[in-house]
Amino acid sequence: MVELGFRISANIGVDVVVVERPMVLRRPDDFINSKRRKYGDGVGMYRTHLFGSPSIIACFPSINKFVFRSDANFILKWPNIDLMGSTSLVAVHGKAHTRLRSFVINAINRPDALRRITEMVQPRMVAALESWAQKGRLKMYDEAKKVTFENIGKLFVSFEPGPLLETMDKLFYGLLGGVRAQPFNFPGTAYHHAIQVIKCRKKLDAIFRVELEKKKKKKNENGVETTNDLMDGLMQIEDEEGKRLSDQEVVDNIVSFVVAGYESTAVASMWALYYLAKYPNVLEKLREENMAIRKKKKGDYITSEDVSKLKYTNKVVEETIRMANIAAISFRLATQEVEYEGYKIPKNWKVILWLRYLHTDPENFDDPTCFNPDRWNKPARPGSYQVFGTGARTCPGNTLSRLQIALFLHHLSLGYKWELKESGCKDYLSFTSKTGLMGLRSSISGNYSIAGY
Ligand code: HEM
Repeated sequence: MVELGFRISANIGVDVVVVERPMVLRRPDDFINSKRRKYGDGVGMYRTHLFGSPSIIACFPSINKFVFRSDANFILKWPNIDLMGSTSLVAVHGKAHTRLRSFVINAINRPDALRRITEMVQPRMVAALESWAQKGRLKMYDEAKKVTFENIGKLFVSFEPGPLLETMDKLFYGLLGGVRAQPFNFPGTAYHHAIQVIKCRKKLDAIFRVELEKKKKKKNENGVETTNDLMDGLMQIEDEEGKRLSDQEVVDNIVSFVVAGYESTAVASMWALYYLAKYPNVLEKLREENMAIRKKKKGDYITSEDVSKLKYTNKVVEETIRMANIAAISFRLATQEVEYEGYKIPKNWKVILWLRYLHTDPENFDDPTCFNPDRWNKPARPGSYQVFGTGARTCPGNTLSRLQIALFLHHLSLGYKWELKESGCKDYLSFTSKTGLMGLRSSISGNYSIAGY
C-alpha cells in the first residue's frame, strides 16, 4: 500500500498499486475531504493510482487553473478518441486545435447564430412542456433528453423529429457509453459495448455525409450558400487564408458536439426542475421576472436579447450548473515532468481535475449545498468556478447551453407548476456509473407531476 498525500518526488513514478482503505462515502467530495483530513491541505493535490496509471487528483482552484492553462505540459487525452473522430476538436492539439476552435466558436457563438438558435429551440420546448402537462407524471431525465435531442437535431443538421432522429439517438446512446469508458474490452463493460457499436459511429458518419452532400448539391444548384444550421456554419466558415474545414472535420465535429452537448444540456434541464421543485421561493422570483418580460412581448417567443435582460433567470441557470456539476471531473496527461509549488508531477502521470470539489467546497461557496441563485449577485472567488473548464479548452458550448437552459426556464416558469412525487435520488448527487468510474452517466430520474396553469 502506498500512502497518498506525501510530497511527490521525481522517482515516485514506478508502477505501484494503491489499495484504498474501503470508505463509506456519502458524497464524492468526501473522498477529497478524507484526504484533506489525513494529510492536510498542501497545495490541493493528492497522488493515487487509477486504472493501472499513477495519477494526481487536483482539487484547488490554483492547481486546476495551472493544469488547464499549461496546454503543452498537460494534454487532453481521451481513452477512446476514435469514437469521437480523429479530426474533432477534442482530439487535436496545438495549432490545429487553435485553428479548429476559432471555426467552432464562430459557428455557434456569433450573435446571429445565437439569435437563430433562440428562435429555433423554443417551439420544441413549448411543445414538449404541453405534452408533459398532458402526461401528468414524468420521468424527467427521459423527457429532458428527448426534447434536447430534437433541438440538437434541428440546430446541428436541420433534422425534424422522426424515425431518422430516433435511430440517431440510439446510435449516439451507444457512443456516449463508450467515449469515457476505460478500454477494458470484455463483455459487460461499456467499452465492449461501444466497440460493438463502432459500426454505429460509421453509420452516423454515413448519415451526416449524406446531409453534407445534399447541402453541397443545393449550393451548386442555387449558387448561394444559406446558413440554417451548425453544419452549414462549419462548412462555410473560412480562416484568414480563405481555407475551409474538410468534410471529415465537419462530420467529426458534429459528432463530438452532440456527444459533448446532448446529455450535458439535458441533465442541466432535469436538475433545474428538481431544484425549483425544492426551492419554491426561487421559482416565485423566477416566475415574476419572466412574467414581467412576457407582458412586454407580442408573440409567444423571446429573443436572445431578452434573455440577456433576464438577470435573475441567468443566476438560476448559473446556480443550476454549479450545483449539478455535470462535468464533475476533467483529466490531462503530463507530457513531461512539471514542477508546481515545490511538488513534482512526473511525466506520463494522469492529472484528474476534480472540478465538482471546487463548487462544493465551503471555502469557495458559502453554504455550498444550498440552491441560492442570489449568490451570483457577486462573482465567484477567482478560479473557484470551473464548470466549463478554463484555458484553451474552455467549453465552446457554454453560451449555447446557458441560453438553452434560460429559454427552458422561461417557458417552464410561465406556464407550468410541478412537484416532485418521489425521487430516484437523494439530496446529494448520487451518480451511478454505467461505464466505470470515468463514465459519469446519470441514472437519476426524478418523477414529476406537471400541469399547465
Ligand atoms: C451544461 C452543459 C455543459 C457543461 C457543464 C460542459 C462542460 C465542459 C467542460 C468542463 C469542458 C472542458 C473539458 C476540458 O478542458 O477537459 C468542455 C469542453 C467541451 N464542450 Fe462542453 N459543456 C456543456 C455543454 C456543451 C455543449 C452544449 C456543447 C456543444 C454544443 C459542448 C461542447 C464542448 C466541446 C466541443 C468541448 C471540447 C473543447 C476543446 O477541447 O477545445 N459542451 N465542456
